Amino acid sequence: MKWSYKKALACLFRAAVIMLPALPIAAQETSARPHVELPDEPVRSAIFKNCSACHGIDYYAYNALDKSGWQQLLAMKHKQLRSAIAPEDEAVLLGYLVENFGPETVPFPREYVPPEITEFFSDQDARVFLEDNCADCHRIRVFGQRNTAAKWRDLVLEMRENGAELSDENLERLVEWLGRTRGLDPG
Ligand code: HEC
Ligand code: HEC
Repeated sequence: MKWSYKKALACLFRAAVIMLPALPIAAQETSARPHVELPDEPVRSAIFKNCSACHGIDYYAYNALDKSGWQQLLAMKHKQLRSAIAPEDEAVLLGYLVENFGPETVPFPREYVPPEITEFFSDQDARVFLEDNCADCHRIRVFGQRNTAAKWRDLVLEMRENGAELSDENLERLVEWLGRTRGLDPG
């Protein structure tokens, strides 16, 4: 009894070790991932009730659709599920999706390949750029935190999805500057 329990534990342990993900460092560095904040009520409850059982909400950001586009996507992705959404929840959810991931937003890229840059921001360039591109919606918020360049990239891609207008090249210049001056290990 005791022996087989131990053996079972050992098996479990081995299984756990084998299942550990082995992501190459390089892939972790450049893989940009959207992050979507859980919205307030009543959308929050509608999401918990209808949507959180199977997957998170970050993936919503891959899409930028109008109301009928969202209806079609949800129907297509969840053929059996659709009838299970209560009509009042559906209206709330669609309103939220269109408002935050509507056709005028830029979808978070599914596969973002950072372009190589040959010109870099000086501190002065970066401050002007932040002033011009990052101060419309909120005060400039990059001075209160430090992140890896990869994390900065995720954040700035998210800002583009929020509505900030940035070319890939300028986005990378900003990311490079942020990594250099607001990184975890500033030189
Ligand atoms: C029963 C499990 C389940 C539930 C509940 C569920 N989903 Fe999904 N959802 C999936 C699966 C599985 C996929 C991936 C399907 C595919 O890619 O072919 C998916 C895909 C999606 C996608 C597409 C993501 C992309 O890559 O563009 C969106 C958006 C989405 N779901 C939103 C929702 C919303 C909103 C709700 C609540 C109304 C919800 N899901 C509830 C299982 C579920
Ligand atoms: C179109 C509006 C808009 C623009 C332009 C914008 N942001 Fe944001 N930003 C938001 C929203 C919405 C949030 C999330 C809600 C909040 O925290 O206020 C946010 C949050 C943030 C945060 C805090 C989030 C966190 O997780 O720490 C930072 C930092 C930030 N923005 C930086 C930037 C930078 C850098 C730029 C310029 C590239 C920028 N923002 C441009 C809308 C915008």
